[in-house]
Amino acid sequence: MKLPIFAANWKMHHGPSDARAFMKSFLAHYRRQQDRKVLFFPNALSVTTVSELLRDRPDMETGIQNIHWEDKGAFTGENSAPMARDSGATHVLVGHSERRHVFHETDVESNLKVKAAFRAGLTPVLCVGELLAERDAGDTERVVLRQLLAGISEVEEGQVASMMFAYEPVWAIGTGRTATPQDASTVHSAIAAALKTAIGERAAGIPILYGGSVNRGNATTLLAAPDVDGVLVGGASLDADGWNAIVCA
Ligand code: 13P
Repeated sequence: MKLPIFAANWKMHHGPSDARAFMKSFLAHYRRQQDRKVLFFPNALSVTTVSELLRDRPDMETGIQNIHWEDKGAFTGENSAPMARDSGATHVLVGHSERRHVFHETDVESNLKVKAAFRAGLTPVLCVGELLAERDAGDTERVVLRQLLAGISEVEEGQVASMMFAYEPVWAIGTGRTATPQDASTVHSAIAAALKTAIGERAAGIPILYGGSVNRGNATTLLAAPDVDGVLVGGASLDADGWNAIVCA
């Protein structure tokens, strides 16, 4: 059975001081629950702070929001997978829509980052999702599966089986417009089917998260939808009380 996953993507919010204050408040209220997993994706500067505060909490882990695909080198401003691991990260978001659409990252780069994550022992969370224009053109599945298959290209089947995926329709991110549970389920089922074609029965254990305007009011319904194994939450994860309400959904 897959444990539901609650992942917080703080984006460019909560530097080390705010991250510490958030975690103190959150940890004071959130008791350990065996039946769910909580992940935090702070910005790179706050990864160490968060991972150290979670040291005694195996039910929660820390990830980084982005990595470079090289392990080291002259790439001013970048962070590598081994550095993220050294800072306490266990997971990494790859191909988040803001990386793809604001920073023009390509499918090929996502694939290189997935491979770099595995070299360093990080679990990649590959994010996929269509733009509004692509959705309106009836292209959702084609776009999402293109991003997915490019991201796992030449990745060993056993490694793919250990990944996580997140479906984040770009039109639903930060807009207050959420996909209906049915919209999410339809795309999640297509992702699950594509993963099964790629790696067979082992794909059944791969978590597929939904992201895009998830909040305390809609998290439970989304999580109840078929093939939705967790949520990846931006804005509504920034406040410790609000995040506690979502995680206890
Ligand atoms: P919002 O929850 O703010 O829409 O962001 C979603 C997201 O991008 C999570 O990665």
